[in-house]
Amino acid sequence: MQETLDHKKLPRHVAIIMDGNGRWAKKQKLQRIRGHEAGIKAVERTVEYCAKTGIQVLTLYAFSSENWQRPALEVMALMKLLRLFLRRETSRLIKNNIRLRAIGHLQRLDPPVLAELEQRMDETSSCTGMVLNLALSYGSRDEMVDAMKRFYQEVEKGNTSAQELTPEILNHYLDTAGLPDPDIILRTGGEYRLSNFLLWQAAYAELYFTETLWPDFSETEMKNILLDYQHRERRFGMISEQLS
Ligand code: IPE
Ligand code: IPE
Ligand code: MG
Repeated sequence: MQETLDHKKLPRHVAIIMDGNGRWAKKQKLQRIRGHEAGIKAVERTVEYCAKTGIQVLTLYAFSSENWQRPALEVMALMKLLRLFLRRETSRLIKNNIRLRAIGHLQRLDPPVLAELEQRMDETSSCTGMVLNLALSYGSRDEMVDAMKRFYQEVEKGNTSAQELTPEILNHYLDTAGLPDPDIILRTGGEYRLSNFLLWQAAYAELYFTETLWPDFSETEMKNILLDYQHRERRFGMISEQLS
């Protein structure tokens, strides 16, 4: 019999490194961009499934600060796809009460993409269900450096002092301010690395790696990953007996 999810033990925040689009396309002798197109369908499936299941925050790593170094044609195609996705997906986001948010160096995005993103974030701003957080032009090290800069600006203005800095205060200056830390970070595509994703926020995240290439990622696999998560014991440095 199929195991069912315990809705009381769901992760609040699921973060996904959606990797393997290029290899998926290559396997079928298609251009890489076809893999990215197929990846969008997997995004739509996953967003809908997570929202329906009761996940509070879903962060998707869609474009890293390092991805700008890819061939210009691929970058252009990805920007175009992102814009298309935002345009096409918004009515479904609203229908499912999903609020769109984004982290990363958004100012680096092409102006039409940024405008589309801002419009869509605005349109979903009163949605109260799941937060869909897109990591775009995102790099964790940039995010941390920016946070430190913002903090020190406050020091220079005399609003705070270096002595007052704590992990909680640093959280407040990160792009992810206000979001819970990811409970699980999963990566598709068979690579075992974080690629500059949520390094600070990942401190106590459960990690899950699957060989599945992102365009092949299904609701069933997502469900199995959530089941696996529910069987893990998160001790946060303590011992089993201390956990109630
Ligand atoms: C992930 O797939 C999507 C982005 C990074 C934009 P890749 O494009 O990295 O696919 P592979 O790793 O080359 O297969
Ligand atoms: C990580 O994938 C970034 C995204 C999924 C957006 P990459 O394919 O860019 O990562 P590396 O280069 O293999 O580490
Ligand atoms: Mg990759």
